[in-house]
Amino acid sequence: MASIDEVVAGEILPAKEAISMLDQVDLGPTIDIPEIPPEADPDSTPLEERERMKKEIMRLKTERNAIVLSHNYVQSDIQDVSDAVGDSLFLAREGAKSDADVLCEPSVLFMNQILAAMKKPHQTVLAPDLGAVCSLAAHADPERIREWKANHPRGLVISYVNTYLDVKAESDYCCASANAAMVLEHVLTHSDPDQPILFLPDVFLGFFAAKFIEKSGYPLDRLWLMLGACHVHEAIRPHHVNEQMRLHPEAAVVVHPECGCTSACMRQVTTGLVPEDLLQFRSTQGMVKLVREVPQETIIVATEVGNLYPMSKAAPEKTLVPASREALCAFMKQNTLQNLYISLRDMVHEVEVDPDLAERAKVPIERMISIG
Ligand code: 13P
Ligand code: SF4
Repeated sequence: MASIDEVVAGEILPAKEAISMLDQVDLGPTIDIPEIPPEADPDSTPLEERERMKKEIMRLKTERNAIVLSHNYVQSDIQDVSDAVGDSLFLAREGAKSDADVLCEPSVLFMNQILAAMKKPHQTVLAPDLGAVCSLAAHADPERIREWKANHPRGLVISYVNTYLDVKAESDYCCASANAAMVLEHVLTHSDPDQPILFLPDVFLGFFAAKFIEKSGYPLDRLWLMLGACHVHEAIRPHHVNEQMRLHPEAAVVVHPECGCTSACMRQVTTGLVPEDLLQFRSTQGMVKLVREVPQETIIVATEVGNLYPMSKAAPEKTLVPASREALCAFMKQNTLQNLYISLRDMVHEVEVDPDLAERAKVPIERMISIG
């Protein structure tokens, strides 16, 4: 067993070991976190100027036969001028089925790369800001995966959507938070019981995967995890959720499985402390659906706070309480109405990917798109 002092973020370990180290390893970001630009707050720009840019964006979309695909975390003004807003799986599916000439995606680079890998020859993929990357994706080093594969020749690699194309190219399957359980189920039922499975890079989602494997009656020994995390979600700890549950005892709770509170929250459910229907795990889009489905008036939301906007649009009558108001993704917030407008006006910044990597990455991406 590896000693805790030697273990660093990004390492690959047997699931049991990785889980036992969850709260002791420094899973902090290995890349710089940018400042959030002032324009990320819509109120920092005069209303007339915002309305003018929104009109221009709508005009440019028609002129260029473009669609705007936005992630749930980007600021409200951008969501309002988008053709589709959703989670990473939904955006990948919308991009793959679109025939528009231009796919402009305010989100982060790993999502843009999926569109670029899947695009049709006549299409151009644009990102308003190529600096919008991801601390979780940065934890996954393709070299470590190649090493693991060399040591486990019959091994299967499932990479979470939050990875770059060089990691996806090394993977057999890709999954998103919306279909992680379904992809795992598929892999378990389409592989031999002695085939090891590597799930990466998010260790909290890995914990979720481990519980799923155990619950489905498969041995946990098959599973290997990478010690990766998102700096925004990792910082949402059990005490954040517990405090909000104390303040709102009548509320339902919904948790993104990348959160640092995932394991503790799952334990609350499995030990019967909290009923299953009161504490659920969802992708960002799953949360938007859930808010309409649950009878509770108040919902505690454990994810990036941008997700409260599409949730509040889906159910304006409900009260949404962020588990942590500090859960802000500075990468997603690099997308502003200003740079979206410039992106469509000047056709910048084109997202280009290595054609060989794209070809290899398409296999796991297509599997992700088709499962669930
Ligand atoms: P979703 O697929 O749930 O939108 O998650 C993507 C992500 O980056 C969460 O931080
Ligand atoms: Fe990446 Fe975390 Fe931002 Fe999602 S919230 S894009 S996982 S850094």
